[in-house]
Amino acid sequence: MATKSTNKQQKKLQKADHYDDDSSSYLKYWDGRDYEQASEEVALRKLLKGKKFKKAVDVGGGYGRLSVVLRDYADEVTLAEPSQQQLDIAKDFLKGKPKVIAKKAQAENLPFKDGELDLAMVIRVIHHLPNPVPAFEEISRVLKPGGYFLIEFANNAHFKNRLKYTAKLQRLPVDPVDIKTEAGRKKNDIPFVNHNPKTVKKQLAQSGFKLVDQLSVSNLRSQSLKKVIPHKTLVSLEKAMQRPLAKTYFGPSTVYLLQKV
Ligand SMILES: C[S@@+](CC[C@H](N)C(=O)[O-])C[C@H]1O[C@@H](n2cnc3c(N)ncnc32)[C@H](O)[C@@H]1O
Repeated sequence: MATKSTNKQQKKLQKADHYDDDSSSYLKYWDGRDYEQASEEVALRKLLKGKKFKKAVDVGGGYGRLSVVLRDYADEVTLAEPSQQQLDIAKDFLKGKPKVIAKKAQAENLPFKDGELDLAMVIRVIHHLPNPVPAFEEISRVLKPGGYFLIEFANNAHFKNRLKYTAKLQRLPVDPVDIKTEAGRKKNDIPFVNHNPKTVKKQLAQSGFKLVDQLSVSNLRSQSLKKVIPHKTLVSLEKAMQRPLAKTYFGPSTVYLLQKV
């Protein structure tokens, strides 16, 4: 059952089916990104190691790229995704893999009862949500107390960005930074933002979560490095760097593990 505040959010709900555009393929986007795929999988497994869940959701899970990883930790996994195109691709992608239930739904209005789940995951979604708080509140609603929330997002405090701001004698913005391309702007494309990780941490705390762990991810994301360092070596280095670099927000991607208070 939705709470009063969720009802209010539903009235304001924006359509979130942007990934239905036939001119771009999210599945193809992953060609040549084996390092990023491996880095994210390593991070998830590191944070979920030794844990077992009954019911989990992959919110905005696209075609289920990482929903299948959740099946190693949860008895039941739902892929909650607003784009019909992604859900259609998921039918093929998930064929022959451990069962994942696919549902058309968006983060701000999830098809679960209060406290029904014990794990929620959100990967590469909130760069489309300049204000992720309604989504965080909804995730908090569907999780039971003590339930886990694993979130990955594009971090604007990463090392290269910090150098850039320091060189300009500017402070790192606390608000989301629009990183939409000129072409995207002309097309009136969906929002595309990088988040300040400390702001996200505050928004999560306000939505009823306490941080239990964090990792710095895709620390070696660089076309040049990919060319000169073999994939296996790059992933081993990444594995070793994720925890020591976590608190410095070194990499372009931050992963937080939280618990509902
Ligand atoms: C970059 S893809 C990431 C997909 C998947 N999490 C992954 O990592 O492969 C972004 C996804 O967010 C979904 N999305 C956008 N707005 C959303 C919202 N308000 N609620 C849930 N999902 C949303 C899109 O449909 C798309 O599948």
